[in-house]
Amino acid sequence: MNKPTVVSGIRPTGFLHLGNYFGAVRNFVRMQNDYHCFFFIADIHSLTTHPTPENLQAGVKQVLAEYLACGIDPEKATIFIQSDVPEVTELYTFLNMNAYLGELERTTSFKEKARKQPENVNAGLLTYPVLMAADIIIHKANFVPVGKDQEQNLEMARKFAGRFNRIYNSEVFPIPRPFTFDGKDMIKVPGLDGSGKMGKSEGNAINLYEDPKSIRKKVMRAVTDTGPTEQNSPKSEAVENLFTLMKIVSKHDVVEHFDGLYNRCEIRYGDMKKQLAEDIIAFTNPIRTRIDEILKDEAYLAKVAREGSEKACESALKTLNEVKQLIGFKSLF
Ligand code: ADP
Ligand code: TRP
Repeated sequence: MNKPTVVSGIRPTGFLHLGNYFGAVRNFVRMQNDYHCFFFIADIHSLTTHPTPENLQAGVKQVLAEYLACGIDPEKATIFIQSDVPEVTELYTFLNMNAYLGELERTTSFKEKARKQPENVNAGLLTYPVLMAADIIIHKANFVPVGKDQEQNLEMARKFAGRFNRIYNSEVFPIPRPFTFDGKDMIKVPGLDGSGKMGKSEGNAINLYEDPKSIRKKVMRAVTDTGPTEQNSPKSEAVENLFTLMKIVSKHDVVEHFDGLYNRCEIRYGDMKKQLAEDIIAFTNPIRTRIDEILKDEAYLAKVAREGSEKACESALKTLNEVKQLIGFKSLF
């Protein structure tokens, strides 16, 4: 039986947070039984922000341990590190020839990065979606589980895959689709600062590897408002975000309880935050313990990375050879 193929990755730029987990990694774990999965650590992409060699290496190890601690099983899914599969950068070079400056400059993620780091608007940032497309289509992915913020990058991947097929009059690449369970929208986990998404660079994130004390502190400091004064009034963005987080980590009846209190204007945000913090801790604590255990086992990490890279290289090389044929590369010797 031919299972559909799934590819996704995360940059090793720090600890994984709840947004990464609920937007991406949770789906990796859910998909690994029924799909042919490739999950990787996008270390080449992370070079766009110029990490030191030490930070790069530590980040890769951390994310690998976090993937495993969350339940991605190397017996079921291929787990690998992007830079261990050089074929991807070769495909990236080919795709770059048909990626246009205008369309790359127009992507929101590029514009945002250019605004955030004006001193470092490098070409890697500009062609970030091209490398991401290469990651995806080199394994002929049908689905890509990512959070809402990656929607546009994925749209670019679809465009580059379709364009390559058209130029070379082939169907070498399936057109990859975003993946969500139950036909739901792609998810956006909010931050604790009242607006926007939870993100590493936003400084509003709760990591999976965060100790309980720090979780309590962060949640208790979350932005709210002065409280409802009329029954059943709409919630402010900050309070809505708190409820969204609670819906993600807490039991249904807990959310109902606080929703009822809010609607009756009886809510005390302090109580809600305490409950939310404890529910986050109950969820993250076992993962944190596992991360520590796995990080100690260097031999296991090395084995997972080596075996993953072998499987990923095999799959990538197969596609790359087809691509080279189509482009017209013919060895003269
Ligand atoms: P960050 O924004 O913290 O730098 P990344 O951009 O590295 O996170 O995202 C890695 C994965 O996690 C992507 O699939 C992304 O869509 C997902 N993700 C990140 N933040 C969120 C969030 N707040 N809500 C949903 N998914 C998210
Ligand atoms: N851009 C993604 C992020 O920041 C990481 C990524 C790189 C990715 N290549 C990918 C995600 C391919 C899915 C598929 O989160």
